Amino acid sequence: MEKLIVEGGHLLKGCVNISGSKNASLPILAASLLTDKPVCIYRVPDVTDTNYMIQILSQLGASVERASGTVRISSSDGIGVSASYEQVRKMRASICLLGPLMARMRRCTLPLPGGCVIGDRPVDLHVRALQALGARVRMKDGNLVMDAPNGLVGTTVDMRGENGPTVLGTDNLMMAAVLARGTTVIESAAREPEVVDLANFLNKMGAKIEGAGSRTITIHGVGHDELRGCEHTVIPDRIETGTFMVAGAMISEGITINRVCREHVQAVADMLTDCGHTVRFAPGGDSVFVARGKAPRGGVITTSPYPGFPTDMQAQMTALFSLTPGISAVKDDIFPQRFMHCSELKRMGANIKVDNGSALINGVESLSGAPVMASDLRASAALVLAALAAEGTTEIHRLYHIDRGYELLDDKLLGLGAHVRRVQDTSSRGGEVL
Ligand code: EPZ
Repeated sequence: MEKLIVEGGHLLKGCVNISGSKNASLPILAASLLTDKPVCIYRVPDVTDTNYMIQILSQLGASVERASGTVRISSSDGIGVSASYEQVRKMRASICLLGPLMARMRRCTLPLPGGCVIGDRPVDLHVRALQALGARVRMKDGNLVMDAPNGLVGTTVDMRGENGPTVLGTDNLMMAAVLARGTTVIESAAREPEVVDLANFLNKMGAKIEGAGSRTITIHGVGHDELRGCEHTVIPDRIETGTFMVAGAMISEGITINRVCREHVQAVADMLTDCGHTVRFAPGGDSVFVARGKAPRGGVITTSPYPGFPTDMQAQMTALFSLTPGISAVKDDIFPQRFMHCSELKRMGANIKVDNGSALINGVESLSGAPVMASDLRASAALVLAALAAEGTTEIHRLYHIDRGYELLDDKLLGLGAHVRRVQDTSSRGGEVL
């Protein structure tokens, strides 16, 4: 096990390059199973989650070569239909294998992904969507067992859940519909950029998808032999971008973040500007300069589906609000339990009250370094941000949470002048609990 030791109080400066999107890469890697022709995907970040997905693809029989950010996949020798619990339990996003396996193989056995600390992670919308296309579904030994002996048939499916649209649910239905007979219309589709990136990849492969990025997506089914190999570069990681934007607002007189997509981070940019920080995009929108404001002020955030304020950024903003004069509020309507970072921030001196899916933050003059424990990917990022600005030294245990979704985070922070180092964690706090 490893921990990150952060010596706080050092102003960040310089520039950092954003990696390819983890959340775009995962469904695109899964979608490669739809065709038996080779595909090549560029700028796949080297993080634990993409590594797990690549392991599962290999287990299913695909041949996968990875050279730094480039992943070449071919499943010309056919694929299996069952993924192991050992792999799936580590990464609940493996649920996005449902669509491609049902489309190509017409059957699959997938262990139900467990919940996680940010909340119960149901899959009812995924199941309902595949059933609407004609899949038969049953549970057996903790596995989702699906089959569609006569193949899938297109129809109209409304994907809205009580907490809004589902990103991976939309992905699964879109991928399943690619090889379904007839036309599928997805109503209440997720509009996230990662859904659009998947649709672009599928269309390069020969799928016929219209409307990705809007609430209604139409997929005209094609024959398996119409799908071809293709090449695709995944979009920049908008949550990594937002995380570094918050770092600039926490403790810098200005950092430059390159390889970004302005449109994908507009909600975060607007919030930082409203809170008195400096946010300036380059004309092309692919680079942004962020600096802490001279008179920062608190804000009120309610997370919502894209293009609203992302749930994956609320923990990072809570860290910023902890050091912002005045009262701020954060409400997460997508994952109401996603506040594990608050108890650790309070160990560093933050003044936060969590109640019923909301956090009320009273900004303090300073935070103080302390040993803290990461609990999930974005909570860990919030702790790193707080540690950068805290007085003294912070030890962040259970670093594997960060390694799930942030590529070379230590190196990137060192490149910005932060004083961080990754060391072996021999304490009891380091135990891996997956
Ligand atoms: C994706 O998860 C992201 N993960 C999450 O990012 C992100 O937080 C989430 O979308 C919301 O934006 C990946 O893309 C790999 P959902 P996903 O289905 O698709 C409810 C990170 O930090 N729901 O859009 O699994 C669900 O409980 C991760 O990178 C159902 O009710 O999330 C939630 O309240 C964390 N039934 C809401 O919908 C279902 O069948 C949105 O979840 C599915 C979801």
